Amino acid sequence: MKDRNIPPRGGRWKRSSGVLAGLFMPLLCACFWAGGSAYKPVIIVHGLFDSPKNLLNLQRFISESHPGTNVTIIDLFDGYESLKPLWTQVEGFKAVIYPIMQNAADGVHFICYSQGGLVCRGILSTLPEHNVHTFISLSSPQAGQYGDTDYFKDVFPECVKSEIYHFCYLGIGQRFSICNYWKDPHHKDLYVNVSSYLALLNTEKPHPNATEWRKNFLKIQKLVLIGGPDDGVITPWQSSQFGFYDDNETVVEMQKQDFYLSDAFGLKTLAAREDLITCTFPGVQHIQWHSNETVFHACMEKWLV
Ligand SMILES: *[C@@H]1O[C@H](CO)[C@@H](O)[C@H](O)[C@H]1NC(C)=O
Ligand SMILES: *[C@@H]1O[C@H](CO)[C@@H](O)[C@H](O)[C@H]1NC(C)=O
Ligand SMILES: *[C@@H]1O[C@H](CO)[C@@H](O)[C@H](O)[C@H]1NC(C)=O
Ligand SMILES: *[C@@H]1O[C@H](CO)[C@@H](O)[C@H](O)[C@H]1NC(C)=O
Ligand SMILES: *[C@@H]1O[C@H](CO)[C@@H](O)[C@H](O)[C@H]1NC(C)=O
Repeated sequence: MKDRNIPPRGGRWKRSSGVLAGLFMPLLCACFWAGGSAYKPVIIVHGLFDSPKNLLNLQRFISESHPGTNVTIIDLFDGYESLKPLWTQVEGFKAVIYPIMQNAADGVHFICYSQGGLVCRGILSTLPEHNVHTFISLSSPQAGQYGDTDYFKDVFPECVKSEIYHFCYLGIGQRFSICNYWKDPHHKDLYVNVSSYLALLNTEKPHPNATEWRKNFLKIQKLVLIGGPDDGVITPWQSSQFGFYDDNETVVEMQKQDFYLSDAFGLKTLAAREDLITCTFPGVQHIQWHSNETVFHACMEKWLV
């Protein structure tokens, strides 16, 4: 995939002085290294049960394609800590990420993997001063999760998916991150009543801050939704692009979801602005998304400028 807007590898051309920049590239690069990169800093948020070490390949891809980029993989809520409630995680990540934003006059980019993509949406919705340009949601269950894949067997060893709602929607369930986005299509009313996180973010449950959150979220310049049919964890996989099951477990695509049609939190606006990009890849398993260089070049590289 070629794009004329992608700066050449090894550095960034200055639009006003392309030829000179070419001649003096080594010098320019040295300056960028000394005085900060020409590329916006990238902030990476990991997924469920992960820690920063799982995302080192992604960090390397960025450094190779955009040398000098300041990439920070946030080291918080690692491993089993990632089961903490998502609002708790949003506040924790925000405290570390906000100073990085304040240091970045030209803004930053977010790459948020799996559950991390939901944490990042929480931050983008509730932080009016954010300066995120591109938000890359890397196989995140943005419309919810309804699948008892191996990942979840760790947490619900004896449960089949049709029973998990008992735990997630009653009693202490919402104290666990997974339950914050567990969406049982056969118990939609209960989900809307009980979900203290995703039903609010997706405005399935009306709340007084919805207008404010929408405004905050829409400050992003680009939303890139990456996912694919061989993911194996995110269920349905289309949830990575805001599709989800109806009550027959038939997938309804994003453009036909109520929250899209009513533009409840800005998806339709982003699409009208041509700032909503979906990137679909077969042949990529869930734990490979951040380590697959093909995916990086096709779906992420050009937005990280
Ligand atoms: C990268 O960003 C972090 C967070 O803003 C900052 O502390 C660090 O100094 C930056 N590193 C470089 C080399 O600019
Ligand atoms: C959802 O909450 C409403 C209002 O509290 C209540 O009337 C309704 O029965 C609840 N639905 C379910 C399925 O719990
Ligand atoms: C709405 O915003 C107010 C003020 O920022 C905050 O105190 C309150 O908790 C928010 N409500 C929800 C449902 O997040
Ligand atoms: C569910 O499937 C049945 C049989 O195929 C169909 O009659 C019904 O309309 C479907 N319901 C929804 C909500 O799609
Ligand atoms: C990377 O993605 C490509 C494109 O979908 C796929 O063909 C390839 O098998 C993937 N490689 C790995 C290691 O997952």
